[in-house]
Amino acid sequence: MQKIDMTPDDSSELFQLLRSVDFFEGMTMGQLQLVVPHIMMVQYEAGEKVVTQGEKGDSFYVVSDGSLSVSVKKGFFGKKELATLGAGSFFGEMALIDASPRNATVTAITPARLFVLFAHQFVTVMNSNPDFASQIMRIAEERKLSGR
Ligand code: CMP
Repeated sequence: MQKIDMTPDDSSELFQLLRSVDFFEGMTMGQLQLVVPHIMMVQYEAGEKVVTQGEKGDSFYVVSDGSLSVSVKKGFFGKKELATLGAGSFFGEMALIDASPRNATVTAITPARLFVLFAHQFVTVMNSNPDFASQIMRIAEERKLSGR
């Protein structure tokens, strides 16, 4: 994992980029302005794990580009693929919403760039945008069911 440094000059570019990602589209300029300074961008190589099932989670991710696989352990050595995530999709919400360990392992299939929001920023965004919060909760519920 490599942190991608963003200079203040990059911020207008970051705005453009964020607006093209579904997750951020529902946010007003004001809301974006509040979270943008806290958003980190990280790069993962193909094969690297971003989150690991069973571990504690304190961050939420939105995919800028690349593709990632979501899988869960099955038995001692097996695993079951639950989904493939690409640009604009998010993950890591379940551990934050339920204060539970990570429900699945998310691994980069290709090199991937991700936006990272730490738990308290995620909560700020959720609290300031109830429609948005209910949408995320709904998706988290669907994922929970499909992971069974
Ligand atoms: P979290 O449990 O924090 O960490 C693993 C993440 O994988 C989880 O949040 C969801 O974002 C994601 N995830 C879990 N199950 C599924 C699923 N069935 N489909 C897509 N994503 C999932």
